[in-house]
Amino acid sequence: MSESLPTLNVAVLGAGTVGSQVIRILGEQANELAARAGARMKVTSVLVRDMAAPRDAQIDPAILTTDADQAIDGKDIVVELIGGIEPARTYVRRALDQGISVVTGNKALLAAHGPELYEAAAASGADLYYEAAVAGAVPVVYGLRESLAGDRITRVMGIVNGTTNFILDSMNTHKVSYEQALAEAQRLGFAEADPTADVEGHDAAAKCAILASLAFHTRVSIADVAVEGISAITAEDMAEAAANGHVIKLLAIAERRLTDDGTEGIAARVHPALIPTGNPLATVAGAFNAVVVEGEAAGRLMFYGQGAGGAPTASAVLSDLVAAAHHRAYGGHAPRESVYAHLPILDAGLTRTRYQMRLQVEDRLGVLADVAGIFSRHGVSIQAVSQHYDSEPGSAIVTIATHTAREADLRAVAQALGKSSAVRRVASTLRVEGE
Ligand code: HSE
Repeated sequence: MSESLPTLNVAVLGAGTVGSQVIRILGEQANELAARAGARMKVTSVLVRDMAAPRDAQIDPAILTTDADQAIDGKDIVVELIGGIEPARTYVRRALDQGISVVTGNKALLAAHGPELYEAAAASGADLYYEAAVAGAVPVVYGLRESLAGDRITRVMGIVNGTTNFILDSMNTHKVSYEQALAEAQRLGFAEADPTADVEGHDAAAKCAILASLAFHTRVSIADVAVEGISAITAEDMAEAAANGHVIKLLAIAERRLTDDGTEGIAARVHPALIPTGNPLATVAGAFNAVVVEGEAAGRLMFYGQGAGGAPTASAVLSDLVAAAHHRAYGGHAPRESVYAHLPILDAGLTRTRYQMRLQVEDRLGVLADVAGIFSRHGVSIQAVSQHYDSEPGSAIVTIATHTAREADLRAVAQALGKSSAVRRVASTLRVEGE
């Protein structure tokens, strides 16, 4: 039956971990994929940097090329798996401008230039698909863009970076330092030699921007996301979290909020947070991802699965390919950019949450009163205080949990504590989420 189906020419840009798996599965499951798409998908060019590099999939050397124009021009669908902004942006534009549909896993490109790419796709009638850009195999892009298109989303909160989840999970489970956990993640191939994009939260921020745009029908770029990474998290933070029934996770949170003057807007942020061990996100282990979406009608939904790796990410790319191929053969197109709501992006200082602060203070009369006074002067209400022995002579450790407070007020508290003669140092400030 599939012999009679039309054949579409596919270019794959990048034959690394994901590209190799896409090519392998397209070859091994050609008939089934053709039956689902209603069209055969034939890889007729593969763009690589080095023709002789070893690869995970067997690729006919005749279709390998280092010439991007030759790889892209005249194809039906281009799969972009190079990553980064340039030259990926130029290649994707080249394809879209010719009316060639694009399937990409490039979160950085979408979070920085999504509107431009959407416009190019709409102008030429091409599809732009990017399920693989957020949370690997987990179908959360489709979930927000299509399955939940009938609902009003109020909040998206998730673990969207596997590398940092692996590191934090190792620190929690094996009681190792951040540096030891990072080294293990690098040894196992989860973390890159330069781990900055993952550990400083940039990868998660790009994904947060994409999810926020979809959830709230508003353009949200990576520059709109307030970001804090995990490199300052210590073994002491982990131990204290565990002692209080919490775990620390790097969360991406995008939410619809009302400001004090009643205006509705969006807040998007990525930061480590304490979450109670009973929260389903607390059980997300290793390099797995999970995203909780709250819809006014649907209630709470949780998407969970493998957020990285060759085959899981290829699964997302292939689902997009099947959809794009079907449109190419029979008409129709992917959903266009939906930004009708144009909600304002709220200042991060207006975000309200609970905080937990650990201080090293002078162990002398009146110190707690001084510290409490600083919180009080900035309008931050204390929920609980505990004091612990410190091995450093003359000092004590004080942990303060706050009631819900404004981020800007908490920052002012931290600054004032830093200047106070009662406080030796602010050892950590963590937000509390998911209670
Ligand atoms: N580096 C990412 C992660 C995978 O660790 O989740 C690709 O986005």
